[in-house]
Amino acid sequence: MSGVITKAIVPAAGLGTRLLPATKSQPKEMLPVGRKPVIQYVIEELADAGLGQILIVTGRRKRAIEDHLDSDPQLVAALRQAGNESLLTDMRFLEERARFFFTRQSEPKGLGHAIAMGADFVNGENCVVALGDSIIWADPPSAPLQAMMKAHIELDAAAMVVVETVPEADTFRYGIVSIAGSTPPPGEPVRMTDIIEKPPAGTAPSTLAVAARYVFSPLIFDALARTPADHRGEVQLTDAIRQLIHMGKPVYAWALPPDQRRYDIGNLESYFYAFIDFVLADERYGYLVRKYIKAKAYDL
Ligand code: UTP
Repeated sequence: MSGVITKAIVPAAGLGTRLLPATKSQPKEMLPVGRKPVIQYVIEELADAGLGQILIVTGRRKRAIEDHLDSDPQLVAALRQAGNESLLTDMRFLEERARFFFTRQSEPKGLGHAIAMGADFVNGENCVVALGDSIIWADPPSAPLQAMMKAHIELDAAAMVVVETVPEADTFRYGIVSIAGSTPPPGEPVRMTDIIEKPPAGTAPSTLAVAARYVFSPLIFDALARTPADHRGEVQLTDAIRQLIHMGKPVYAWALPPDQRRYDIGNLESYFYAFIDFVLADERYGYLVRKYIKAKAYDL
């Protein structure tokens, strides 16, 4: 197998019910976080990591994602004519090296089902999976993926999964992993011994939550094909990863270093926090917003 990973799958077909009514007619992946929609952060991260072919799994009411990633010569010409250099720079992601492919998951039968739709696209190679509703905060944002892809190839891994520590009270929201040893050294792969999807409160084996970025060998597609749907009719990616672990395949957790984190845009609370943090860090507007918040804080 080639030592370079060039393909990524971005599942973006979920219903986004936890963000209603904001997501009634628009995809959650198109919600703005500061000046950009979520999907743009994800695409820029992947392209920066050298992933030149990106398959986006969409569904009903998700057409805005395709429109956002399509070039718009009329708009670019208008900006150029107006001499609006800063907006032209903001639109440059359209000229990224990456090529986009789209497929539709007609029914939201789970994250595992969405990823399985990329089997032909991946065609027996290693690939990256990046959830379309999560942003990685790192400098540069592609740093975790670059390190993981390198480690994945060096170790000839079956899967490499980003994890981060979450408060105990939040473990029921995420896939939770067990590892060999107690605390994973940040930025280093550690063998995973188990993984469980959204454990009921009080039963989580650890506080290490799966954090929206993965590198897989093609073995994942065989495992997904063997994974039955759960009681809600969804094929869970975590169940397929669990199979790989139980088969003795090398599956690793890769813990985000302390200065890196994942922002989950899947629920309103974490969406608000993401928006605040990204706006505060915005090089154009951060200063003004900081001033506003400081003044406002007196009244809180
Ligand atoms: P979530 O677990 O957040 O599910 O998906 P959801 O359906 O999008 O949101 P809620 O629970 O209704 O609020 C995590 C990621 O997996 C994708 C989503 O688009 C998101 O990027 N996904 C989920 C799919 O592509 N297909 C699915 O069937 C489910």
